[in-house]
Amino acid sequence: MDTAIEIRDLTKTYGTRRGLTGLTLDVRAGEVFGYLGPNGAGKSTTIRLLLDLIRPTSGTATVLGLDPLRDGVALRRRVGYLAGDFVVDGRQKVRECLRFLGALRGGVAPARIEDLADQLGLDQNATIKSLSKGNRQKVGLVQAFMHTPELLILDEPSSGLDPLMQQTFLDLVTEAAAAGQTVFMSSHIMDEVEAVADRIAILRDGALVALDTVADLRASAVRRIEVSFGHRVRIEEFRGLPGITEPILDTTETTLRAQLTGTPDALIKAAARHTVTALHTTEPHLDEIFHAHYAAAPQPAA
Ligand SMILES: Nc1ncnc2c1ncn2[C@@H]1O[C@H](COP(=O)(O)OP(=O)(O)O)[C@@H](O)[C@H]1O
Ligand SMILES: [Mg+2]
Repeated sequence: MDTAIEIRDLTKTYGTRRGLTGLTLDVRAGEVFGYLGPNGAGKSTTIRLLLDLIRPTSGTATVLGLDPLRDGVALRRRVGYLAGDFVVDGRQKVRECLRFLGALRGGVAPARIEDLADQLGLDQNATIKSLSKGNRQKVGLVQAFMHTPELLILDEPSSGLDPLMQQTFLDLVTEAAAAGQTVFMSSHIMDEVEAVADRIAILRDGALVALDTVADLRASAVRRIEVSFGHRVRIEEFRGLPGITEPILDTTETTLRAQLTGTPDALIKAAARHTVTALHTTEPHLDEIFHAHYAAAPQPAA
């Protein structure tokens, strides 16, 4: 099977509120798929539909070749799910809770649970209700990963984790991907997704606005370029060059700043007529791309 998740024209409305509109998307088996969007974009709605926690208004989804509406029980064994609002009974100790959840998944080796808890620095003797938000999130992560599911569906998995633990989480994702597991993870934070995802979808107001590989999203993005010269130059030389927009000179007329799309070849050749003392480009961060998509999309009618 090449497709882990197949979504076709999936729509969910909450009364008059739009949750998700006409989403069509394939997640390939074995890939790490980043599902990005600002709060309220429809990420959790999509994920809940995939797990049959809510029912679609129209459209279909297939998960591991199964219909979530009919094959929910079979699916739960093969999927590791971390809810955006992960909650468990607060009176139990972490160890009891994880063993119980492991039994529900058809049995998980205690050593596997120990190993994951150790990696995340989670004290299994603590009572759930005594845990901080970050430590509760770790319980959520352990239960999602512990049965080594074919597919991980993680809703904002690193929320509440400190930067060190975020990295540990990303290592878990990388390990899962290396073992052939598919990972579908939502986030409103670009950095973490950028580091591990093969492909990224950007969702806005319940609709898909971009879907591409991380590399291609970055290549199509605008980066900033700055060239410093050993003497004054004229701005006219740099206007209208392919790939260059908004060229400006600083007040000393020796440093050029511009926006660059695609190859810098034309700019480099124009600059090489002069003595170049420094050259800087900033790699676009995915969050800039993301904000560009966000800003470029037409505003919904009031
Ligand atoms: N149970 C619900 N009842 C009414 N509106 C909802 C409900 N759940 C989500 N929504 C609305 O659907 C939209 C998408 O929400 P959600 O999927 O939670 O977004 P995200 O997870 O991307 O932050 C939001 O406008 C939200 O207010
Ligand atoms: Mg959400």
